[in-house]
Amino acid sequence: MSLHFNAFIWPHGYHESAWRVVPDDVRGVLGLDYYADIARTAERGLMDSIFLADNLAIAEYRLTHLPQTQFDPIAVLSALAAVTSRIGLIGTGSTTYAKPWDLARRFATLDHLSGGRAGWNIVTTVTPLAAAAFGESKHPDLADRYERAHEFTDAVTQLWDAWGDDAVVGDRTRGVWADRERVRENHFHGVFHDVDGILPFPRSPQGRPVLVQAGQSPAGIGLAARWAELVFSGPPSMDAAVAFRTNLHSQVAAAGRDPGEVRVLPALMITLGGTEAEARDRARRLEELASPEFRWQNALYTAGLDPDGFDPNVPLPASLLEGQAPSSRAEQLFEAARARPQAPLREVAAAITGGAGQTHFVGTPQQLADFVIEWQDAGAADGFTIMGSTLPYELAAFVDHVVPILQQRGRFRTEYTGRTLREHLR
Ligand SMILES: Cc1cc2nc3c(=O)[nH]c(=O)nc-3n(C[C@H](O)[C@H](O)[C@H](O)COP(=O)(O)O)c2cc1C
Repeated sequence: MSLHFNAFIWPHGYHESAWRVVPDDVRGVLGLDYYADIARTAERGLMDSIFLADNLAIAEYRLTHLPQTQFDPIAVLSALAAVTSRIGLIGTGSTTYAKPWDLARRFATLDHLSGGRAGWNIVTTVTPLAAAAFGESKHPDLADRYERAHEFTDAVTQLWDAWGDDAVVGDRTRGVWADRERVRENHFHGVFHDVDGILPFPRSPQGRPVLVQAGQSPAGIGLAARWAELVFSGPPSMDAAVAFRTNLHSQVAAAGRDPGEVRVLPALMITLGGTEAEARDRARRLEELASPEFRWQNALYTAGLDPDGFDPNVPLPASLLEGQAPSSRAEQLFEAARARPQAPLREVAAAITGGAGQTHFVGTPQQLADFVIEWQDAGAADGFTIMGSTLPYELAAFVDHVVPILQQRGRFRTEYTGRTLREHLR
């Protein structure tokens, strides 16, 4: 089975210290060239897709420690559609804060403009700060968010399906642009959303842009089981990844779908070097620059908690640890805190890195190729979401040095055979 790779784009790289070690202009990440260069590199490496995350509200501590470049992913991907021709374009969209009609239109627009390369990463938005940004009085809890997500996705796919494939007839003689008989009326009435009306343009090349899902809680996996064709996960180890994928497959089957059509691409941060020692030096330099102040605030923020409400010099309050965790990331943090009840938050959080809970691979291209194949053979992954610890450097190294090894071993395509993202994922 051919592997699948998704390139996670992040300003200067996924490691929090990346922007401090790369020589590039710190403001370069606010211009199209930065994204275009990465997208072209990923396409040169025949990767399935590039991916842009979305965060709808930014806690202010982040401004100090991390480059802030959270543009609208669809706007950026639409620009990238013009400078690439084959690679898939996946962006995040929130089922808690968007409206189904608006989101359906934006992703279908991207699918049209890119010739069928769009993917929607369905997220429910963890950060409670988004509520204030959108003028809502309360951020819904996890169960509520996922209930809305099912209904939202239902509404979006109905919108995408309303125009029949062959609705545009373009008959100049009769003066008929589209056949109304081939466009379904759309009336969606749910608990959370009502959508009356169709999209203002015909069905896009893929019909439905590819559905992607990244939530790790039982409710998140339930959403993936019903809808997702591609799943991003953040397993801490190969064994955890096998368990995750096995569990997902059985839930996909229980939902009446074919597990063979769902690709699981765990998030993997990579730091590469010509020798292992060189890779380790690069990783050490990144870690040395990491701020402990950032770590504890970020552990809370990515778990869906507001860092301003906490004192890092005392343990997390017992009342919090006893209650329901607001996300799967919070559950991980709570578990670490329960294991060391006397330890201050700052110490517990020091070991918690990276927003997606990803594994950090440090080594040579040869070692990474071995690692990838080992995970694939163990049934842990269908490929990876590659997060360069620094960008564009780690991604270029992956494309130039790891991809050829995987091709030689017959594990990865040597050319694109499909045109659409869904075809790449086959
Ligand atoms: C590779 C990867 C990418 C993600 N991208 C986003 C994103 O762009 N925006 C977002 O709000 N959450 C993102 N998440 C977080 C998940 O969507 C989800 O919100 C998180 O895992 C918490 O939900 P859960 O409690 O169901 O796991 C990502 C997670 C992973 C592993």
